[in-house]
Amino acid sequence: MKCLKTVVKCLFFPYVAGYNKLAFSCRWYAALFNPFYFARKNLHRHISALCGNLSGKILDVGCGTKPYKDMIRHTGYVGLEFDTPENRNSKQADIFYDGVYFPLEDAAFDGILTTQVLEHVFTPEIFMTELNRVLKPGGKLLLTVPFVWDEHEQPYDFGRYSSFGLKALLERHGFEIIEHRKSCSNITLFFQLWNVYLYKKICVRDNIILFQTVIFLSSISNIAGALLDLFLPENSDLYLDNVVLAVKKQPAGQRNDGLD
Ligand SMILES: C[S@@+](CC[C@H](N)C(=O)[O-])C[C@H]1O[C@@H](n2cnc3c(N)ncnc32)[C@H](O)[C@@H]1O
Repeated sequence: MKCLKTVVKCLFFPYVAGYNKLAFSCRWYAALFNPFYFARKNLHRHISALCGNLSGKILDVGCGTKPYKDMIRHTGYVGLEFDTPENRNSKQADIFYDGVYFPLEDAAFDGILTTQVLEHVFTPEIFMTELNRVLKPGGKLLLTVPFVWDEHEQPYDFGRYSSFGLKALLERHGFEIIEHRKSCSNITLFFQLWNVYLYKKICVRDNIILFQTVIFLSSISNIAGALLDLFLPENSDLYLDNVVLAVKKQPAGQRNDGLD
């Protein structure tokens, strides 16, 4: 019943349902109205599988609307955001900063989540140093970043990361990768990019007819992608997002692996 209500609301009253809710929906029925269905569903699936590794005091860097907060067991949850007038109005951050140095103590957090943020960071080397600094030794980092996606949040879109580039960046800054996943590494990637094209080129949000046309065409492409995915193989060289779980390495004197 709840699912039917959501579909009807999103199909016929997209403004009431709210655009954000539309774009973040990833239950199976969201395929009927969400142009970003494959991207969202797969990110959500991987984050949900890995976020059980985070616990204690959590920092969400570039938290936006904190879409994953309820999925994480925590004793405290702090959202950090880049300070702009628009972010102060639309984001749910607890702390705003200059986008370079975190106004936070060393080793203050047990875990860090940062999803779809690194590509917006102009100084990634400093960003990684800051992530490492505020995390306790042995603390976990769950990071997602696109490998393939359109330019967005312009002009604050500075990079895309291959799995190898990301691994090298993390290792340079004292992290060891525990698990690296590739999101949407199958045929649905093409349908997702087609939907993004439709959305950007046709969707005019104050024109309900065009809006509904994009929703309709996207739903066809979501269903076609899901069906083809049943038959066609994966290609792990072409995917949308990197999803990485990493650990902050212990200083040499504090290793507990019996090798010292
Ligand atoms: C694509 S949104 C992702 C938001 C949220 N993490 C999510 O997964 O829905 C990118 C976010 O990164 C933030 N951001 C941009 N530059 C940043 C920086 N230097 N440090 C932290 N956050 C930044 C933006 O304000 C925006 O909220």
